[in-house]
Amino acid sequence: MDSLKLFAQRVEAIYKTISPHLYKTPLLYCPTLSSLCKDSSVFIKLESEQVTGSFKARGALSKLSIIASSETLKSRGAVTASSGNHALACAYASKIYGVDMQMYLPEGVSKSKVSQLKLAGANLVIHGADCMFAETKAREVSEIEGKIYVSPYNDTEVMIGQATVGLEILTEMPDVSAVFVSVGGGGLIGGLATYLKAKRRDIKIIGCQPIQSKVMYESVKAGKLIFEESGETLSDGTKGGVEEGAVTFEPCRDYVDDWIVVSEEEISSSVFFMLNEHCKTVEGSAGVAIAAYQQQADRYKGHKIAIVSCGCRISPSTLGKIIAQHSA
Ligand SMILES: Cc1ncc(COP(=O)(O)O)c(C=O)c1O
Repeated sequence: MDSLKLFAQRVEAIYKTISPHLYKTPLLYCPTLSSLCKDSSVFIKLESEQVTGSFKARGALSKLSIIASSETLKSRGAVTASSGNHALACAYASKIYGVDMQMYLPEGVSKSKVSQLKLAGANLVIHGADCMFAETKAREVSEIEGKIYVSPYNDTEVMIGQATVGLEILTEMPDVSAVFVSVGGGGLIGGLATYLKAKRRDIKIIGCQPIQSKVMYESVKAGKLIFEESGETLSDGTKGGVEEGAVTFEPCRDYVDDWIVVSEEEISSSVFFMLNEHCKTVEGSAGVAIAAYQQQADRYKGHKIAIVSCGCRISPSTLGKIIAQHSA
């Protein structure tokens, strides 16, 4: 069996295991986005309403369910580092599967996140001035103590979990012809693209990144993973570099048909659009994929489109600024 088919089988198998712990998020029809291009219809996959507030629960449940299925793996325990959606997802999944998990968070992580993580029963260690230090420490601990390191994206089993977003889109919309996805480390798009190409080679996958942090886009252009400094962006969920040797590079290179880069102004407008049009709160990372479609809609005539709205965690002050800016 070819590797694509095998990947799809693994996605379908893991979905049976993890779906009882997930919401089947809606595909919301958007009349305004649909009207941007003749004969196209646009649906927004609301992973921003997924349990823990993002698609990340899928990857964490996938990885931890696999760890929990083996007493040997489970007894090693797991460790991760994140200040955001991945941490919340891991806290949720570790409680469900009874996997002992240590979580390294950078100093200055928001109090509300810490209290949510504690509520979810997370074992927290605050370490380092930013997430990179927390990550290095978590990897160190995994090596010294033999714990399993759970990467937010650089892990095939995490990618298989994220791919279940694609499975749900295809099940509900079998005639989908293009899917827009925000990209950071590439776990979400890598999994989703591999799954959808295995099922229907003709579905177009569009990778979307902010102009301030577009490492995967530049890497695919260069034909290898590159290092590029990231600037400040509203899309904090996708911001940052990609680890050397990341398993997400090849699917991004081989299965993503097109890349769109968006400005901060476009991200902010699309966050406001979701609130104004649909009364939905989304974070900047979700705004990236919506903005990418808005920017290039005229190229998608006659398409049936799904845009993944990947998360909702935006701070009240950032959202307040966006509202003030766009309703002035
Ligand atoms: C809301 C949100 N969207 C997108 C991403 C990027 O996902 P990936 O690193 O799998 O590309 C993240 C990563 O943390 C995220 O939190």
